[in-house]
Amino acid sequence: MTRAACPGSFDPVTHGHLDVIGRTAQIVDNVVVAVGTNISKNALFSPDERVEMLTEECAAWSNVKVMLFRGLLVDFCATNNIDIISKGLRAADFDYELQMAQMNRQLTGVDTLFLPTAPQWAFVSSSLVREVATLGGDVTAFLPARIAARTMARVASREAGVPNEV
Ligand code: PNS
Repeated sequence: MTRAACPGSFDPVTHGHLDVIGRTAQIVDNVVVAVGTNISKNALFSPDERVEMLTEECAAWSNVKVMLFRGLLVDFCATNNIDIISKGLRAADFDYELQMAQMNRQLTGVDTLFLPTAPQWAFVSSSLVREVATLGGDVTAFLPARIAARTMARVASREAGVPNEV
């Protein structure tokens, strides 16, 4: 049985993330979507909200589960018997992703599988989606419908001064 982690911040989860998770689920036996808990000041959603949203969006894949992780990804992989890290790769990510993959392999021997991002999502990132949404742009093309609705609602409630859970 091969078990892969698909790690990320997922703030929010995009079509690009789900494409990589779904493709990984076809390659390995089990996938753990590993949601990092590092909170950035610009985060839209709390870690628990991100897990909840991912769990809903991944519900159709019976071999995918969603977990939070703290600390080093390699320690999470060792504790959870994860054999491989699977990541989507955009051209702009290459240098940093290669560096992280090599560091992770050096730390515990866990290897990284890179899947080329689907061309239609190659320009999509959570950080750009947050920026576009915050500045009033339409992000519905880049996110599943439920996530887009929650993202726009969160941006609107922030503008109205309502504190969120982050
Ligand atoms: O979606 P992101 O923000 O690109 O995800 C980054 C993430 C969470 C995968 C990365 O920051 C990570 O692995 N963090 C855990 C801490 C860690 O292991 N750092 C050493 C990396 S070599």
